[in-house]
Amino acid sequence: MYSFDEIVPRRGTESVKWDEFGPEVLPMWVADMDFKAAPEILEALQERLDHGVFGYELVPDDYFEAIGRWFGRRHGWAGIGKEQIVPTTGVIPAYSAAIKAMTKPGDKVIVQTPCYNAFFPAIRNNKCEELHNPLRYEKGVFTVDWDDLEAKAADPRATAMLLCNPHNPAGRVWTREELERIGRICLRNGVFVIADEIHCELTYPGHDYTPYATLPQELVKNSVSCISPTKAFNIAGIQIANIFASDPEILKKMDRAINDNECCDVNVFGVAALKAAYNRGEKWLDELREYLYDNYVTVRDFLADELPQITAPPLEGTYLMWLDCRKVRHPEEPEAGFSERLSAHLQKCGLALSTGTIYGAEAEGFERLNIACPRKTLLEGLRRLKDGIQSY
Ligand SMILES: Cc1ncc(COP(=O)(O)O)c(C=O)c1O
Repeated sequence: MYSFDEIVPRRGTESVKWDEFGPEVLPMWVADMDFKAAPEILEALQERLDHGVFGYELVPDDYFEAIGRWFGRRHGWAGIGKEQIVPTTGVIPAYSAAIKAMTKPGDKVIVQTPCYNAFFPAIRNNKCEELHNPLRYEKGVFTVDWDDLEAKAADPRATAMLLCNPHNPAGRVWTREELERIGRICLRNGVFVIADEIHCELTYPGHDYTPYATLPQELVKNSVSCISPTKAFNIAGIQIANIFASDPEILKKMDRAINDNECCDVNVFGVAALKAAYNRGEKWLDELREYLYDNYVTVRDFLADELPQITAPPLEGTYLMWLDCRKVRHPEEPEAGFSERLSAHLQKCGLALSTGTIYGAEAEGFERLNIACPRKTLLEGLRRLKDGIQSY
């Protein structure tokens, strides 16, 4: 049994999450967790540290074997190995390189808003334009707007889609049927799919992750998948990720783009941590998922009982809850800028959330809550949320 109740002080540790705001603010925003990494990973890192030499590292065969075994056993994604993988320093560098490789300046890249905010700069930095396929939000659930996706994919300048599977911040774990339908629309319209699957391990009962790469071959050939253990094992600061492509020609293009962007040499600790996570981290991960699910139920019940004016879609995956705060807005208050004003007010009340509109202008009235912390911290955050909402 692992314990996720331990409070590890992070303030003053150069943490983006904890040191961005003053000491009076409890941070429940940026997507990392307040838990120590699995002891198995810490051991592997200690061993690597004890070696004492940190020169440039060749990515060893057993790194790729660890990835192959993990995804084969755990996710039914068979046969993934060294010949289909390009390692890099993070999932952002991975999908950015994929955009660079598969588009030309002036092209449009489809995103399903609200979407992970760092999708936008990656598209613009590659001199492309965002093309929003806003998710539908009906009866408290996010679904794909299929007619809109058909229309957007048919735009002759749309050449790529940046897909988030599972979806941050909507909390959806896309089903095989949904992914296949997305894939067919993209293939029919010459839109290349870049699947960001960084949240793939963090799914809850009844919602299994479907690797995009396990769809029918013709769809997989029209895609790359960006994967990493960093989100689920809370080692994002170590910076390691992988791009998978089944088509050797596409893999070559990924390798070229990763080299052009000078992010092809990986961190020695990233290699050690990935191997430990995939080879020895399974039990820790499964216990973490149970703990996170209980955190989700705690928040869901708290909202229902104490803050019924705030609702949240069911959390199928990720540890990021998407709070619909639109009923908190005063009737006479303008809609524009509401998320920002609410976030600023909550900060004054000692709680930092992520402002909804950074995930797309469509998200006015929403806030994102990171629930990956010890239960005691979570309850303190909820207390502050209630005070902040009541005094808004
Ligand atoms: C969907 C998604 N992709 C990528 C990242 C960041 O990936 P990395 O830190 O490996 O660059 C995050 C971080 O929250 C994310 O939510």
